[in-house]
Amino acid sequence: MNKHIAVIPGDGIGPEIIKQALAVLDAVAAIYGHSFCCTEVDMGGCAIDAWGDPLPQEMLDKCLAADSVLLGAVGGEKWNHMPSDKRPEKGLLRLRAGMGVYSNNRPAKIWPQLASASPLKKSIVDKGIDFIIVRELIGGIYFGDHKTEVADGQKKATDILSYTEAEIERIGRIGFETARKRRGLLCSVEKSNVLDSSRLWKSVMHRLAAEYPDVTLVDMLVDNCAMQIVKNPAQFDVIVTENMFGDILSDEASMITGSIGMIPSSSLGATDCGLYEPIHGSAPDIAGTDTANPIGTILSAAMMLRYSFNMAEEAEAIENAVSAALDEGYRTADIMPSDEQEAATCKKVGCSEMGRQIINKLKR
Ligand code: IPM
Ligand code: MG
Repeated sequence: MNKHIAVIPGDGIGPEIIKQALAVLDAVAAIYGHSFCCTEVDMGGCAIDAWGDPLPQEMLDKCLAADSVLLGAVGGEKWNHMPSDKRPEKGLLRLRAGMGVYSNNRPAKIWPQLASASPLKKSIVDKGIDFIIVRELIGGIYFGDHKTEVADGQKKATDILSYTEAEIERIGRIGFETARKRRGLLCSVEKSNVLDSSRLWKSVMHRLAAEYPDVTLVDMLVDNCAMQIVKNPAQFDVIVTENMFGDILSDEASMITGSIGMIPSSSLGATDCGLYEPIHGSAPDIAGTDTANPIGTILSAAMMLRYSFNMAEEAEAIENAVSAALDEGYRTADIMPSDEQEAATCKKVGCSEMGRQIINKLKR
Protein backbone atom coordinates (compact mmCIF):
# COMPACT_ATOMS: atom_id res chain seq x y z
CA MET A 1 0.00 0.00 0.00
CA ASN A 2 1.20 3.54 -0.73
CA LYS A 3 0.43 6.16 1.87
CA HIS A 4 1.27 9.80 2.10
CA ILE A 5 2.11 11.15 5.56
CA ALA A 6 2.51 14.83 6.49
CA VAL A 7 5.20 14.89 9.17
CA ILE A 8 5.51 17.75 11.65
CA PRO A 9 8.70 17.46 13.73
CA GLY A 10 7.95 20.75 15.56
CA ASP A 11 10.08 22.11 18.40
CA GLY A 12 12.21 20.94 21.32
CA ILE A 13 12.49 17.15 21.39
CA GLY A 14 9.98 16.94 18.49
CA PRO A 15 12.55 16.34 15.72
CA GLU A 16 14.39 13.64 17.76
CA ILE A 17 11.32 11.59 18.58
CA ILE A 18 9.88 11.96 15.07
CA LYS A 19 13.15 10.69 13.60
CA GLN A 20 12.79 7.45 15.56
CA ALA A 21 9.11 7.05 14.64
CA LEU A 22 9.96 7.50 10.95
CA ALA A 23 12.76 4.94 11.21
CA VAL A 24 10.25 2.48 12.70
CA LEU A 25 7.78 3.22 9.87
CA ASP A 26 10.55 2.64 7.30
CA ALA A 27 11.27 -0.73 8.88
CA VAL A 28 7.55 -1.63 8.84
CA ALA A 29 7.33 -0.59 5.18
CA ALA A 30 10.28 -2.83 4.31
CA ILE A 31 8.85 -5.84 6.17
CA TYR A 32 5.30 -5.53 4.83
CA GLY A 33 6.03 -4.14 1.37
CA HIS A 34 4.38 -0.74 1.89
CA SER A 35 5.59 2.63 0.82
CA PHE A 36 5.18 5.64 3.09
CA CYS A 37 5.90 8.92 1.38
CA CYS A 38 6.52 11.76 3.84
CA THR A 39 6.18 15.51 3.38
CA GLU A 40 7.73 17.64 6.08
CA VAL A 41 5.52 20.41 7.46
CA ASP A 42 6.59 23.38 9.62
CA MET A 43 4.37 24.13 12.55
CA GLY A 44 4.85 25.76 15.95
CA GLY A 45 7.86 27.79 17.01
CA CYS A 46 9.97 26.75 14.03
CA ALA A 47 7.23 28.01 11.68
CA ILE A 48 7.08 31.31 13.60
CA ASP A 49 10.85 31.65 13.09
CA ALA A 50 10.71 30.73 9.40
CA TRP A 51 7.39 32.24 8.33
CA GLY A 52 6.19 34.55 11.12
CA ASP A 53 3.13 32.32 11.59
CA PRO A 54 2.76 29.11 13.68
CA LEU A 55 0.78 27.43 10.89
CA PRO A 56 0.89 29.13 7.49
CA GLN A 57 -2.07 28.19 5.27
CA GLU A 58 0.16 26.30 2.82
CA MET A 59 1.40 24.11 5.69
CA LEU A 60 -2.18 23.33 6.71
CA ASP A 61 -2.95 22.57 3.06
CA LYS A 62 -0.09 20.04 2.97
CA CYS A 63 -1.63 18.28 5.98
CA LEU A 64 -5.10 18.27 4.42
CA ALA A 65 -3.67 16.75 1.22
CA ALA A 66 -2.01 13.85 3.08
CA ASP A 67 -3.50 10.49 4.16
CA SER A 68 -2.61 11.33 7.76
CA VAL A 69 -0.48 13.60 9.91
CA LEU A 70 2.24 12.59 12.40
CA LEU A 71 3.32 15.25 14.88
CA GLY A 72 6.18 15.46 17.40
CA ALA A 73 5.61 18.41 19.74
CA VAL A 74 5.47 22.18 19.61
CA GLY A 75 6.29 25.08 21.91
CA GLY A 76 9.11 26.44 24.02
CA GLU A 77 10.27 29.27 26.24
CA LYS A 78 11.56 31.25 23.25
CA TRP A 79 8.05 31.97 21.98
CA ASN A 80 6.24 32.39 25.32
CA HIS A 81 6.18 36.20 25.06
CA MET A 82 4.42 36.15 21.66
CA PRO A 83 0.81 37.41 21.39
CA SER A 84 -1.67 34.55 21.78
CA ASP A 85 -2.46 34.13 18.08
CA LYS A 86 1.25 33.89 17.27
CA ARG A 87 2.18 31.27 19.84
CA PRO A 88 3.31 27.77 18.76
CA GLU A 89 0.28 26.22 20.50
CA LYS A 90 -2.02 28.29 18.31
CA GLY A 91 -0.59 26.44 15.31
CA LEU A 92 -1.58 23.13 16.90
CA LEU A 93 -5.10 24.37 17.71
CA ARG A 94 -5.52 25.65 14.14
CA LEU A 95 -4.29 22.35 12.77
CA ARG A 96 -6.77 20.38 14.90
CA ALA A 97 -9.64 22.70 13.91
CA GLY A 98 -8.54 22.83 10.25
CA MET A 99 -8.50 19.04 10.06
CA GLY A 100 -11.82 18.85 11.92
CA VAL A 101 -10.44 16.21 14.28
CA TYR A 102 -12.93 16.54 17.12
CA SER A 103 -12.23 13.22 18.81
CA ASN A 104 -8.97 12.76 20.68
CA ASN A 105 -8.32 9.29 21.98
CA ARG A 106 -5.75 8.96 24.79
CA PRO A 107 -5.14 5.49 26.20
CA ALA A 108 -3.93 5.08 29.78
CA LYS A 109 -2.64 1.56 30.08
CA ILE A 110 0.01 0.22 32.38
CA TRP A 111 2.76 -1.78 30.72
CA PRO A 112 3.47 -4.68 33.09
CA GLN A 113 7.21 -4.06 32.65
CA LEU A 114 6.77 -0.53 33.99
CA ALA A 115 4.41 -1.23 36.89
CA SER A 116 7.02 -0.11 39.39
CA ALA A 117 7.41 3.24 37.60
CA SER A 118 3.85 4.16 38.59
CA PRO A 119 3.75 6.56 41.54
CA LEU A 120 0.70 4.68 42.86
CA LYS A 121 0.86 1.97 45.50
CA LYS A 122 1.40 -1.55 44.19
CA SER A 123 -1.98 -2.62 45.64
CA ILE A 124 -3.72 -0.08 43.41
CA VAL A 125 -1.66 -0.77 40.28
CA ASP A 126 -2.19 -4.52 40.69
CA LYS A 127 -5.94 -4.05 40.21
CA GLY A 128 -5.12 -2.97 36.63
CA ILE A 129 -5.00 0.32 34.75
CA ASP A 130 -6.48 0.15 31.27
CA PHE A 131 -8.75 2.95 30.20
CA ILE A 132 -9.16 5.47 27.42
CA ILE A 133 -9.90 9.15 27.64
CA VAL A 134 -12.01 10.38 24.74
CA ARG A 135 -11.41 14.11 24.74
CA GLU A 136 -13.45 16.62 22.70
CA LEU A 137 -10.73 18.46 20.78
CA ILE A 138 -12.04 21.36 18.73
CA GLY A 139 -14.62 23.06 20.94
CA GLY A 140 -15.10 24.41 24.45
CA ILE A 141 -12.95 27.00 26.15
CA TYR A 142 -9.97 26.43 23.82
CA PHE A 143 -12.00 27.76 20.91
CA GLY A 144 -14.31 30.32 22.57
CA ASP A 145 -13.55 34.04 22.45
CA HIS A 146 -10.49 35.09 24.42
CA LYS A 147 -9.93 38.68 25.37
CA THR A 148 -8.02 40.87 27.78
CA GLU A 149 -9.33 44.40 28.34
CA VAL A 150 -8.99 47.17 30.86
CA ALA A 151 -12.07 47.56 33.03
CA ASP A 152 -12.32 49.85 36.08
CA GLY A 153 -8.63 50.62 35.98
CA GLN A 154 -7.46 47.02 35.99
CA LYS A 155 -6.92 44.33 33.41
CA LYS A 156 -9.70 41.82 32.97
CA ALA A 157 -9.37 38.59 31.00
CA THR A 158 -12.20 36.46 29.62
CA ASP A 159 -12.32 33.03 27.99
CA ILE A 160 -15.65 31.66 26.80
CA LEU A 161 -16.62 28.00 27.26
CA SER A 162 -19.52 26.96 25.08
CA TYR A 163 -20.80 23.78 23.44
CA THR A 164 -23.68 23.11 21.09
CA GLU A 165 -25.78 19.96 21.38
CA ALA A 166 -24.41 18.75 18.05
CA GLU A 167 -20.80 19.11 19.22
CA ILE A 168 -21.58 17.15 22.39
CA GLU A 169 -23.53 14.50 20.52
CA ARG A 170 -20.79 13.67 18.01
CA ILE A 171 -18.13 13.20 20.72
CA GLY A 172 -20.66 11.42 22.93
CA ARG A 173 -21.27 8.86 20.19
CA ILE A 174 -17.53 8.22 19.93
CA GLY A 175 -17.49 7.61 23.68
CA PHE A 176 -20.38 5.11 23.52
CA GLU A 177 -18.95 3.36 20.48
CA THR A 178 -15.49 3.11 22.05
CA ALA A 179 -17.00 1.65 25.23
CA ARG A 180 -19.09 -0.79 23.18
CA LYS A 181 -15.89 -2.24 21.67
CA ARG A 182 -14.27 -2.54 25.12
CA ARG A 183 -15.78 -3.41 28.50
CA GLY A 184 -19.00 -1.46 27.93
CA LEU A 185 -18.54 1.14 30.68
CA LEU A 186 -18.68 4.84 29.83
CA CYS A 187 -17.94 7.55 32.38
CA SER A 188 -19.10 11.01 31.29
CA VAL A 189 -17.09 13.67 33.10
CA GLU A 190 -18.37 17.22 33.60
CA LYS A 191 -18.97 19.93 36.19
CA SER A 192 -22.75 20.02 36.06
CA ASN A 193 -23.03 21.28 39.64
CA VAL A 194 -21.64 24.62 38.41
CA LEU A 195 -21.52 24.98 34.61
CA ASP A 196 -24.38 25.31 32.12
CA SER A 197 -22.23 23.77 29.39
CA SER A 198 -21.80 20.72 31.63
CA ARG A 199 -25.53 20.44 32.32
CA LEU A 200 -26.14 20.38 28.56
CA TRP A 201 -23.32 17.85 28.21
CA LYS A 202 -24.90 15.58 30.81
CA SER A 203 -28.38 15.77 29.28
CA VAL A 204 -27.08 14.92 25.79
CA MET A 205 -25.15 11.93 27.16
CA HIS A 206 -28.30 10.62 28.83
CA ARG A 207 -30.36 11.09 25.67
CA LEU A 208 -27.74 9.08 23.72
CA ALA A 209 -27.62 6.36 26.37
CA ALA A 210 -31.03 5.10 25.22
CA GLU A 211 -29.45 4.17 21.87
CA TYR A 212 -26.65 2.20 23.53
CA PRO A 213 -28.39 -0.18 25.95
CA ASP A 214 -25.29 -2.41 25.96
CA VAL A 215 -23.19 0.41 27.47
CA THR A 216 -23.45 1.43 31.15
CA LEU A 217 -23.28 5.21 31.52
CA VAL A 218 -21.96 6.75 34.72
CA ASP A 219 -21.75 10.52 35.39
CA MET A 220 -18.83 11.92 37.33
CA LEU A 221 -17.90 15.45 38.34
CA VAL A 222 -14.46 16.38 37.08
CA ASP A 223 -13.00 17.11 40.53
CA ASN A 224 -14.16 13.73 41.79
CA CYS A 225 -12.79 12.10 38.63
CA ALA A 226 -9.34 13.60 39.28
CA MET A 227 -9.47 11.95 42.69
CA GLN A 228 -10.86 8.61 41.48
CA ILE A 229 -8.10 8.29 38.84
CA VAL A 230 -5.49 8.04 41.59
CA LYS A 231 -7.68 6.26 44.13
CA ASN A 232 -9.13 3.50 42.00
CA PRO A 233 -8.16 3.70 38.31
CA ALA A 234 -9.36 0.12 37.71
CA GLN A 235 -12.98 1.38 37.78
CA PHE A 236 -12.54 3.16 34.44
CA ASP A 237 -13.00 1.76 30.94
CA VAL A 238 -13.81 4.81 28.77
CA ILE A 239 -13.98 8.41 29.97
CA VAL A 240 -15.61 10.96 27.66
CA THR A 241 -15.14 14.62 28.45
CA GLU A 242 -14.85 18.15 27.11
CA ASN A 243 -11.65 19.70 25.81
CA MET A 244 -10.01 21.28 28.86
CA PHE A 245 -11.08 18.61 31.35
CA GLY A 246 -9.65 16.03 28.94
CA ASP A 247 -6.38 17.92 28.68
CA ILE A 248 -5.93 17.94 32.45
CA LEU A 249 -7.18 14.42 33.23
CA SER A 250 -5.09 12.85 30.46
CA ASP A 251 -1.87 14.20 31.97
CA GLU A 252 -2.91 12.77 35.33
CA ALA A 253 -3.87 9.45 33.74
CA SER A 254 -0.57 9.20 31.89
CA MET A 255 1.45 9.76 35.05
CA ILE A 256 -0.12 6.86 36.93
CA THR A 257 0.95 4.54 34.11
CA GLY A 258 4.59 5.45 34.73
CA SER A 259 5.51 8.21 32.31
CA ILE A 260 3.83 10.70 30.04
CA GLY A 261 6.56 9.77 27.53
CA MET A 262 4.82 6.45 26.84
CA ILE A 263 1.40 7.74 25.80
CA PRO A 264 0.31 8.09 22.17
CA SER A 265 -2.87 9.69 20.87
CA SER A 266 -5.07 9.71 17.83
CA SER A 267 -7.37 12.53 16.74
CA LEU A 268 -10.05 11.81 14.20
CA GLY A 269 -12.99 13.57 12.64
CA ALA A 270 -15.30 12.72 9.79
CA THR A 271 -12.61 11.26 7.51
CA ASP A 272 -9.81 8.70 7.84
CA CYS A 273 -7.19 11.45 7.78
CA GLY A 274 -6.16 11.61 11.41
CA LEU A 275 -3.65 13.49 13.50
CA TYR A 276 -1.31 11.34 15.59
CA GLU A 277 0.86 12.77 18.35
CA PRO A 278 2.33 11.79 21.70
CA ILE A 279 0.53 13.59 24.51
CA HIS A 280 3.69 15.05 26.05
CA GLY A 281 5.10 18.45 25.17
CA SER A 282 8.32 19.64 23.55
CA ALA A 283 10.46 19.31 26.72
CA PRO A 284 12.93 22.06 25.73
CA ASP A 285 15.05 21.29 28.82
CA ILE A 286 16.20 17.98 27.34
CA ALA A 287 16.03 18.85 23.63
CA GLY A 288 19.15 17.87 21.69
CA THR A 289 20.47 15.61 24.47
CA ASP A 290 19.23 12.32 22.97
CA THR A 291 17.50 11.43 26.25
CA ALA A 292 13.82 11.82 25.29
CA ASN A 293 11.54 8.79 25.25
CA PRO A 294 10.45 8.14 21.63
CA ILE A 295 7.88 5.48 22.59
CA GLY A 296 4.84 7.82 22.76
CA THR A 297 5.57 8.91 19.19
CA ILE A 298 6.34 5.41 17.96
CA LEU A 299 3.06 4.17 19.44
CA SER A 300 1.29 7.15 17.82
CA ALA A 301 2.65 5.94 14.48
CA ALA A 302 1.22 2.50 15.31
CA MET A 303 -2.19 4.11 15.99
CA MET A 304 -1.92 5.85 12.62
CA LEU A 305 -1.40 2.52 10.90
CA ARG A 306 -4.37 1.00 12.72
CA TYR A 307 -6.93 3.82 12.48
CA SER A 308 -6.05 5.73 9.30
CA PHE A 309 -4.45 3.03 7.13
CA ASN A 310 -6.35 -0.02 8.34
CA MET A 311 -3.07 -1.87 9.02
CA ALA A 312 -3.91 -3.62 12.29
CA GLU A 313 -1.24 -6.29 11.92
CA GLU A 314 1.52 -3.75 11.29
CA ALA A 315 0.34 -1.68 14.28
CA GLU A 316 0.46 -4.73 16.50
CA ALA A 317 3.96 -5.56 15.24
CA ILE A 318 5.14 -2.14 16.46
CA GLU A 319 3.41 -2.54 19.83
CA ASN A 320 4.95 -6.00 20.24
CA ALA A 321 8.40 -4.63 19.37
CA VAL A 322 8.02 -1.91 22.03
CA SER A 323 7.00 -4.55 24.54
CA ALA A 324 9.97 -6.75 23.58
CA ALA A 325 12.41 -3.84 24.02
CA LEU A 326 10.93 -3.20 27.48
CA ASP A 327 11.12 -6.94 28.28
CA GLU A 328 14.85 -6.82 27.56
CA GLY A 329 15.22 -4.01 30.07
CA TYR A 330 15.78 -1.06 27.72
CA ARG A 331 14.66 2.14 29.45
CA THR A 332 14.95 5.84 28.69
CA ALA A 333 15.64 8.07 31.68
CA ASP A 334 11.96 8.83 32.36
CA ILE A 335 11.10 5.16 32.82
CA MET A 336 14.20 4.01 34.71
CA PRO A 337 13.18 2.42 38.02
CA SER A 338 14.08 4.49 41.07
CA ASP A 339 14.83 1.35 43.07
CA GLU A 340 18.58 0.64 42.72
CA GLN A 341 18.26 -3.13 42.64
CA GLU A 342 15.63 -3.01 39.95
CA ALA A 343 17.58 -0.38 37.99
CA ALA A 344 20.55 -2.75 37.92
CA THR A 345 18.47 -5.18 35.83
CA CYS A 346 17.70 -2.45 33.25
CA LYS A 347 19.76 -0.82 30.51
CA LYS A 348 19.49 2.95 30.38
CA VAL A 349 19.45 4.15 26.77
CA GLY A 350 18.91 7.37 24.87
CA CYS A 351 16.25 8.24 22.34
CA SER A 352 18.04 6.92 19.25
CA GLU A 353 19.17 3.68 20.92
CA MET A 354 15.59 3.01 22.10
CA GLY A 355 14.44 3.50 18.51
CA ARG A 356 17.13 1.10 17.26
CA GLN A 357 16.19 -1.56 19.81
CA ILE A 358 12.51 -1.36 18.85
CA ILE A 359 13.39 -1.70 15.16
CA ASN A 360 15.61 -4.71 15.97
CA LYS A 361 12.64 -6.44 17.54
CA LEU A 362 10.17 -5.73 14.75
CA LYS A 363 8.97 -8.87 13.09
CA ARG A 364 6.09 -10.09 11.04
C1 IPM B 1 -2.05 18.51 24.70
C2 IPM B 1 -1.30 19.79 24.93
C3 IPM B 1 -1.95 20.89 24.10
C4 IPM B 1 -3.38 21.04 24.58
C5 IPM B 1 -1.21 22.24 24.15
C6 IPM B 1 0.22 22.11 23.67
C7 IPM B 1 -1.93 23.29 23.36
O1 IPM B 1 -1.26 20.09 26.28
O2 IPM B 1 -2.12 18.06 23.52
O3 IPM B 1 -2.56 17.95 25.66
O4 IPM B 1 -3.63 21.72 25.58
O5 IPM B 1 -4.26 20.48 23.94
MG1 MG C 1 -2.06 18.56 27.54
